Amino acid sequence: MKESIIIWGIGDRTKMYLDNQFFADCNIKGYVDSVKAGTVFLGKKVCNPSELPELMTDTDYLIICNRFFSEIYDSCLKMGLKREQVIFTDWIDEQFVKYDMDVIQSIEPKLVRELELNRYKLIEMNEKDPIDDIRQIGRGTYAAPTYMSDYFRYRSFEYMAEIIEEDRIDGAVAELGVFRGDFSALVNQKFPDRKLYLFDTFEGFDQEEIDKESKLGRCDDKFAQYHTNTSVERMLDNLPFPNQSIVCKGLFPESVTEAAEKEAYAFVSIDVDFENSILEGLKFFYPRLSEGGVIFLHDYNSAFLGGVKAAVRRYEELLGRKLKKVPFADRAGTLVIIK
Ligand SMILES: C[S@@+](CC[C@H](N)C(=O)[O-])C[C@H]1O[C@@H](n2cnc3c(N)ncnc32)[C@H](O)[C@@H]1O
Repeated sequence: MKESIIIWGIGDRTKMYLDNQFFADCNIKGYVDSVKAGTVFLGKKVCNPSELPELMTDTDYLIICNRFFSEIYDSCLKMGLKREQVIFTDWIDEQFVKYDMDVIQSIEPKLVRELELNRYKLIEMNEKDPIDDIRQIGRGTYAAPTYMSDYFRYRSFEYMAEIIEEDRIDGAVAELGVFRGDFSALVNQKFPDRKLYLFDTFEGFDQEEIDKESKLGRCDDKFAQYHTNTSVERMLDNLPFPNQSIVCKGLFPESVTEAAEKEAYAFVSIDVDFENSILEGLKFFYPRLSEGGVIFLHDYNSAFLGGVKAAVRRYEELLGRKLKKVPFADRAGTLVIIK
Protein backbone atom coordinates (compact mmCIF):
# COMPACT_ATOMS: atom_id res chain seq x y z
CA MET A 1 0.00 0.00 0.00
CA LYS A 2 1.24 3.49 -0.86
CA GLU A 3 2.29 5.55 2.15
CA SER A 4 0.45 8.83 2.48
CA ILE A 5 2.58 11.88 3.22
CA ILE A 6 2.33 15.60 3.76
CA ILE A 7 5.39 17.70 2.98
CA TRP A 8 6.29 20.69 5.15
CA GLY A 9 7.97 23.34 3.01
CA ILE A 10 7.50 24.29 -0.63
CA GLY A 11 10.89 25.83 -1.18
CA ASP A 12 13.89 24.82 -3.30
CA ARG A 13 14.50 21.60 -1.43
CA THR A 14 11.00 20.27 -2.01
CA LYS A 15 11.14 21.35 -5.66
CA MET A 16 14.45 19.55 -6.11
CA TYR A 17 13.11 16.37 -4.49
CA LEU A 18 10.01 16.37 -6.62
CA ASP A 19 11.93 17.23 -9.81
CA ASN A 20 14.03 14.16 -9.09
CA GLN A 21 10.87 12.06 -8.76
CA PHE A 22 11.43 11.52 -5.04
CA PHE A 23 8.23 10.37 -3.30
CA ALA A 24 6.75 9.50 -6.70
CA ASP A 25 5.43 6.24 -5.23
CA CYS A 26 3.83 7.95 -2.24
CA ASN A 27 0.42 9.47 -1.99
CA ILE A 28 1.31 13.15 -1.46
CA LYS A 29 -1.80 14.43 0.23
CA GLY A 30 -0.69 18.03 0.46
CA TYR A 31 1.79 20.64 1.55
CA VAL A 32 2.20 22.80 4.61
CA ASP A 33 4.08 26.06 4.81
CA SER A 34 3.85 28.74 7.46
CA VAL A 35 4.74 31.56 5.06
CA LYS A 36 2.96 30.45 1.89
CA ALA A 37 -0.19 28.96 3.43
CA GLY A 38 -3.26 29.62 1.30
CA THR A 39 -1.38 29.46 -2.00
CA VAL A 40 -1.45 26.54 -4.42
CA PHE A 41 1.57 24.33 -5.08
CA LEU A 42 1.58 21.71 -7.86
CA GLY A 43 -2.19 21.81 -7.96
CA LYS A 44 -2.69 21.38 -4.21
CA LYS A 45 -3.68 23.93 -1.61
CA VAL A 46 -0.85 24.80 0.77
CA CYS A 47 -2.16 24.43 4.32
CA ASN A 48 -1.35 26.28 7.48
CA PRO A 49 0.65 24.36 10.11
CA SER A 50 -2.27 24.77 12.54
CA GLU A 51 -4.30 22.42 10.29
CA LEU A 52 -1.81 19.60 10.77
CA PRO A 53 -3.38 17.77 13.74
CA GLU A 54 -6.50 17.18 11.66
CA LEU A 55 -4.64 16.46 8.41
CA MET A 56 -2.38 13.93 10.07
CA THR A 57 -5.18 11.79 11.50
CA ASP A 58 -5.29 9.75 8.27
CA THR A 59 -1.76 10.44 6.97
CA ASP A 60 1.27 8.24 7.60
CA TYR A 61 4.09 10.77 7.69
CA LEU A 62 4.86 14.46 7.74
CA ILE A 63 8.11 14.98 5.81
CA ILE A 64 10.03 18.08 6.91
CA CYS A 65 11.82 19.70 3.98
CA ASN A 66 12.85 22.97 5.55
CA ARG A 67 16.09 24.15 7.13
CA PHE A 68 14.29 25.19 10.33
CA PHE A 69 13.64 21.50 10.89
CA SER A 70 14.34 21.51 14.59
CA GLU A 71 11.86 24.35 15.37
CA ILE A 72 9.30 22.68 13.10
CA TYR A 73 9.81 19.37 14.87
CA ASP A 74 9.28 20.99 18.28
CA SER A 75 6.12 22.77 17.15
CA CYS A 76 4.74 19.53 15.65
CA LEU A 77 5.14 17.72 18.94
CA LYS A 78 3.52 20.65 20.75
CA MET A 79 0.56 20.34 18.37
CA GLY A 80 0.19 16.73 19.48
CA LEU A 81 1.67 14.98 16.43
CA LYS A 82 3.38 11.69 17.20
CA ARG A 83 7.18 11.51 16.95
CA GLU A 84 6.78 8.46 14.66
CA GLN A 85 4.90 10.59 12.14
CA VAL A 86 7.33 13.51 11.93
CA ILE A 87 10.23 12.73 9.63
CA PHE A 88 13.47 14.66 9.19
CA THR A 89 15.25 14.92 5.88
CA ASP A 90 18.45 16.29 7.41
CA TRP A 91 21.46 14.55 8.90
CA ILE A 92 21.72 15.79 12.43
CA ASP A 93 22.67 13.76 15.47
CA GLU A 94 23.11 10.26 14.06
CA GLN A 95 21.15 8.35 16.69
CA PHE A 96 18.32 10.83 16.68
CA VAL A 97 17.61 10.55 12.97
CA LYS A 98 18.13 6.82 12.70
CA TYR A 99 14.37 6.25 12.86
CA ASP A 100 13.79 8.92 10.19
CA MET A 101 16.37 7.45 7.85
CA ASP A 102 14.78 4.01 8.26
CA VAL A 103 11.39 5.45 7.31
CA ILE A 104 12.80 7.30 4.29
CA GLN A 105 14.70 4.17 3.28
CA SER A 106 11.40 2.30 3.19
CA ILE A 107 9.45 4.94 1.28
CA GLU A 108 12.13 6.64 -0.84
CA PRO A 109 15.60 5.00 -0.76
CA LYS A 110 16.91 7.41 -3.43
CA LEU A 111 16.58 10.24 -0.92
CA VAL A 112 18.69 8.46 1.69
CA ARG A 113 21.49 8.12 -0.86
CA GLU A 114 21.18 11.81 -1.72
CA LEU A 115 21.39 12.76 1.98
CA GLU A 116 24.43 10.58 2.48
CA LEU A 117 26.19 12.23 -0.44
CA ASN A 118 25.42 15.69 0.93
CA ARG A 119 26.64 14.67 4.34
CA TYR A 120 30.06 13.69 3.05
CA LYS A 121 30.49 16.18 0.29
CA LEU A 122 32.89 18.28 2.35
CA ILE A 123 35.13 15.41 3.40
CA GLU A 124 37.47 15.67 0.45
CA MET A 125 37.74 19.45 0.64
CA ASN A 126 41.40 19.16 1.43
CA GLU A 127 43.23 17.32 -1.33
CA LYS A 128 45.41 15.53 1.21
CA ASP A 129 42.45 14.00 3.06
CA PRO A 130 42.25 10.72 1.14
CA ILE A 131 45.93 9.91 1.74
CA ASP A 132 46.30 11.36 5.23
CA ASP A 133 46.71 8.44 7.63
CA ILE A 134 46.62 10.50 10.81
CA ARG A 135 43.44 12.32 9.88
CA GLN A 136 40.53 11.78 12.28
CA ILE A 137 37.79 13.74 10.54
CA GLY A 138 35.68 11.64 8.26
CA ARG A 139 36.67 8.39 9.95
CA GLY A 140 35.02 6.26 12.62
CA THR A 141 33.54 8.35 15.40
CA TYR A 142 34.78 11.54 13.74
CA ALA A 143 32.58 10.96 10.73
CA ALA A 144 29.63 11.90 12.91
CA PRO A 145 27.48 14.71 11.52
CA THR A 146 28.72 17.00 14.29
CA TYR A 147 32.18 17.01 12.76
CA MET A 148 31.01 17.09 9.19
CA SER A 149 28.73 20.00 9.99
CA ASP A 150 31.78 22.19 10.63
CA TYR A 151 34.54 20.55 8.64
CA PHE A 152 36.76 23.62 8.44
CA ARG A 153 36.85 24.14 12.17
CA TYR A 154 37.56 20.55 13.12
CA ARG A 155 39.94 19.82 10.25
CA SER A 156 41.88 23.06 10.76
CA PHE A 157 42.20 22.19 14.42
CA GLU A 158 43.69 18.84 13.43
CA TYR A 159 46.34 20.57 11.35
CA MET A 160 46.99 23.06 14.15
CA ALA A 161 47.44 20.22 16.65
CA GLU A 162 49.95 18.60 14.31
CA ILE A 163 51.99 21.83 14.16
CA ILE A 164 51.87 22.21 17.94
CA GLU A 165 53.25 18.68 18.31
CA GLU A 166 55.89 19.06 15.57
CA ASP A 167 57.09 22.38 16.97
CA ARG A 168 57.07 20.91 20.49
CA ILE A 169 55.03 23.73 21.94
CA ASP A 170 54.99 23.03 25.62
CA GLY A 171 52.02 22.74 27.92
CA ALA A 172 48.66 21.24 28.72
CA VAL A 173 45.55 21.67 26.58
CA ALA A 174 42.16 22.97 27.69
CA GLU A 175 38.64 23.78 26.69
CA LEU A 176 36.53 26.44 28.38
CA GLY A 177 32.92 25.67 27.38
CA VAL A 178 32.79 21.92 26.89
CA PHE A 179 29.07 21.12 26.87
CA ARG A 180 28.87 17.46 25.72
CA GLY A 181 32.54 17.30 24.76
CA ASP A 182 32.21 17.18 20.98
CA PHE A 183 35.20 19.42 20.37
CA SER A 184 37.03 18.30 23.53
CA ALA A 185 36.92 14.72 22.23
CA LEU A 186 38.96 15.72 19.20
CA VAL A 187 41.38 17.77 21.34
CA ASN A 188 41.82 14.71 23.55
CA GLN A 189 42.34 12.49 20.50
CA LYS A 190 44.97 14.76 18.94
CA PHE A 191 46.84 15.31 22.22
CA PRO A 192 46.65 11.88 23.84
CA ASP A 193 49.79 12.53 25.94
CA ARG A 194 48.77 15.91 27.32
CA LYS A 195 46.61 16.80 30.26
CA LEU A 196 43.24 18.15 29.12
CA TYR A 197 41.57 20.66 31.44
CA LEU A 198 37.81 20.88 30.93
CA PHE A 199 35.95 23.89 32.30
CA ASP A 200 32.18 24.00 32.29
CA THR A 201 29.26 24.22 34.67
CA PHE A 202 27.85 21.18 32.84
CA GLU A 203 24.52 22.74 33.81
CA GLY A 204 24.34 25.56 31.30
CA PHE A 205 25.06 29.27 31.45
CA ASP A 206 25.06 31.52 34.49
CA GLN A 207 21.58 33.05 34.91
CA GLU A 208 22.95 36.57 35.42
CA GLU A 209 24.87 36.33 32.16
CA ILE A 210 21.82 34.92 30.36
CA ASP A 211 19.77 37.92 31.51
CA LYS A 212 22.44 40.37 30.47
CA GLU A 213 23.01 38.82 27.04
CA SER A 214 19.28 38.38 26.43
CA LYS A 215 18.74 42.10 26.92
CA LEU A 216 21.34 42.68 24.21
CA GLY A 217 19.59 40.23 21.85
CA ARG A 218 22.41 37.71 22.01
CA CYS A 219 20.57 34.93 23.82
CA ASP A 220 17.06 33.52 24.04
CA ASP A 221 15.32 30.96 26.24
CA LYS A 222 15.76 28.16 23.76
CA PHE A 223 19.51 28.71 23.46
CA ALA A 224 19.91 28.84 27.24
CA GLN A 225 17.69 25.80 27.81
CA TYR A 226 19.47 23.72 25.17
CA HIS A 227 22.80 24.07 26.95
CA THR A 228 21.51 22.64 30.22
CA ASN A 229 21.13 19.24 28.60
CA THR A 230 24.48 17.67 29.48
CA SER A 231 26.42 16.15 32.37
CA VAL A 232 30.01 15.31 33.28
CA GLU A 233 29.29 11.60 32.75
CA ARG A 234 27.80 12.17 29.33
CA MET A 235 30.77 14.31 28.32
CA LEU A 236 33.35 11.82 29.64
CA ASP A 237 31.70 9.06 27.62
CA ASN A 238 32.60 11.07 24.53
CA LEU A 239 36.35 11.22 25.27
CA PRO A 240 38.75 8.70 23.75
CA PHE A 241 41.28 9.13 26.62
CA PRO A 242 39.21 10.23 29.62
CA ASN A 243 42.11 9.46 32.00
CA GLN A 244 43.95 12.47 30.62
CA SER A 245 41.11 14.81 31.49
CA ILE A 246 40.84 17.05 34.52
CA VAL A 247 37.27 18.17 34.95
CA CYS A 248 36.83 21.62 36.51
CA LYS A 249 33.08 21.76 37.04
CA GLY A 250 31.53 25.06 38.02
CA LEU A 251 31.29 28.64 36.97
CA PHE A 252 34.53 29.94 35.44
CA PRO A 253 36.73 31.61 36.72
CA GLU A 254 35.70 30.48 40.23
CA SER A 255 36.17 26.90 39.06
CA VAL A 256 39.89 27.42 38.38
CA THR A 257 42.01 25.07 40.48
CA GLU A 258 45.51 25.65 41.83
CA ALA A 259 46.87 23.04 39.39
CA ALA A 260 45.19 24.79 36.43
CA GLU A 261 46.64 28.10 37.57
CA LYS A 262 50.17 26.72 37.57
CA GLU A 263 49.98 25.21 34.08
CA ALA A 264 51.31 26.52 30.80
CA TYR A 265 48.99 25.83 27.85
CA ALA A 266 49.85 24.85 24.29
CA PHE A 267 46.28 24.89 23.00
CA VAL A 268 43.03 26.29 24.40
CA SER A 269 39.53 26.30 22.95
CA ILE A 270 37.32 29.06 24.35
CA ASP A 271 33.68 28.43 23.50
CA VAL A 272 31.49 30.04 26.16
CA ASP A 273 29.41 32.28 23.88
CA PHE A 274 28.98 35.28 26.19
CA GLU A 275 31.09 38.40 26.66
CA ASN A 276 32.09 38.29 30.33
CA SER A 277 32.93 34.62 30.40
CA ILE A 278 35.04 35.00 27.26
CA LEU A 279 36.85 37.98 28.72
CA GLU A 280 37.58 35.96 31.87
CA GLY A 281 38.83 33.13 29.66
CA LEU A 282 41.22 35.40 27.78
CA LYS A 283 42.44 36.96 31.03
CA PHE A 284 43.23 33.55 32.44
CA PHE A 285 44.59 31.66 29.45
CA TYR A 286 46.44 34.21 27.32
CA PRO A 287 49.12 34.97 29.93
CA ARG A 288 49.57 31.23 30.48
CA LEU A 289 49.82 30.40 26.79
CA SER A 290 53.26 29.10 25.77
CA GLU A 291 55.21 30.93 23.07
CA GLY A 292 53.74 29.54 19.83
CA GLY A 293 50.63 28.37 21.69
CA VAL A 294 47.20 28.82 20.15
CA ILE A 295 43.69 29.78 21.28
CA PHE A 296 40.67 28.89 19.15
CA LEU A 297 37.98 31.42 20.09
CA HIS A 298 34.71 30.13 18.74
CA ASP A 299 31.91 32.35 17.32
CA TYR A 300 34.07 35.42 16.72
CA ASN A 301 32.22 36.08 13.46
CA SER A 302 28.88 34.69 14.59
CA ALA A 303 25.79 36.61 13.49
CA PHE A 304 24.15 36.03 16.86
CA LEU A 305 26.86 36.12 19.54
CA GLY A 306 28.10 39.70 19.44
CA GLY A 307 29.77 39.40 22.85
CA VAL A 308 32.71 37.47 21.43
CA LYS A 309 34.18 40.39 19.50
CA ALA A 310 33.37 42.77 22.34
CA ALA A 311 35.34 40.56 24.75
CA VAL A 312 38.36 40.54 22.46
CA ARG A 313 38.24 44.33 22.18
CA ARG A 314 38.02 44.65 25.95
CA TYR A 315 40.90 42.24 26.46
CA GLU A 316 43.09 44.10 23.99
CA GLU A 317 42.40 47.32 25.89
CA LEU A 318 43.45 45.66 29.14
CA LEU A 319 46.54 44.24 27.48
CA GLY A 320 47.44 47.59 25.94
CA ARG A 321 48.13 46.06 22.54
CA LYS A 322 46.54 44.00 19.79
CA LEU A 323 46.51 40.21 19.78
CA LYS A 324 47.79 38.30 16.74
CA LYS A 325 44.51 37.28 15.17
CA VAL A 326 43.69 34.91 12.29
CA PRO A 327 39.99 34.64 11.39
CA PHE A 328 38.57 31.41 10.00
CA ALA A 329 35.62 31.20 7.64
CA ASP A 330 34.20 28.18 9.44
CA ARG A 331 30.55 28.03 10.46
CA ALA A 332 30.61 30.50 13.32
CA GLY A 333 33.81 32.30 12.36
CA THR A 334 36.41 31.00 14.81
CA LEU A 335 39.19 33.42 15.70
CA VAL A 336 42.65 31.90 16.07
CA ILE A 337 44.93 33.74 18.48
CA ILE A 338 48.60 32.84 18.29
CA LYS A 339 51.17 33.89 20.87
C1 LIG B 1 28.50 26.38 23.01
S1 LIG B 1 28.66 25.41 24.41
C2 LIG B 1 30.20 24.65 24.18
C3 LIG B 1 30.22 23.69 23.03
C4 LIG B 1 31.43 22.80 22.94
N1 LIG B 1 32.66 23.54 22.89
C5 LIG B 1 31.32 21.90 21.73
O1 LIG B 1 32.12 22.02 20.81
O2 LIG B 1 30.41 21.07 21.70
C6 LIG B 1 28.96 26.60 25.66
C7 LIG B 1 29.19 25.99 27.03
O3 LIG B 1 29.82 26.97 27.83
C8 LIG B 1 29.42 26.80 29.17
N2 LIG B 1 29.69 28.04 29.90
C9 LIG B 1 29.36 29.30 29.53
N3 LIG B 1 29.83 30.20 30.42
C10 LIG B 1 30.49 29.50 31.37
C11 LIG B 1 31.19 29.86 32.55
N4 LIG B 1 31.35 31.13 32.93
N5 LIG B 1 31.71 28.87 33.30
C12 LIG B 1 31.58 27.57 32.94
N6 LIG B 1 30.93 27.17 31.84
C13 LIG B 1 30.39 28.12 31.05
C14 LIG B 1 27.96 26.42 29.04
O4 LIG B 1 27.55 25.72 30.18
C15 LIG B 1 27.96 25.56 27.78
O5 LIG B 1 28.04 24.21 28.10
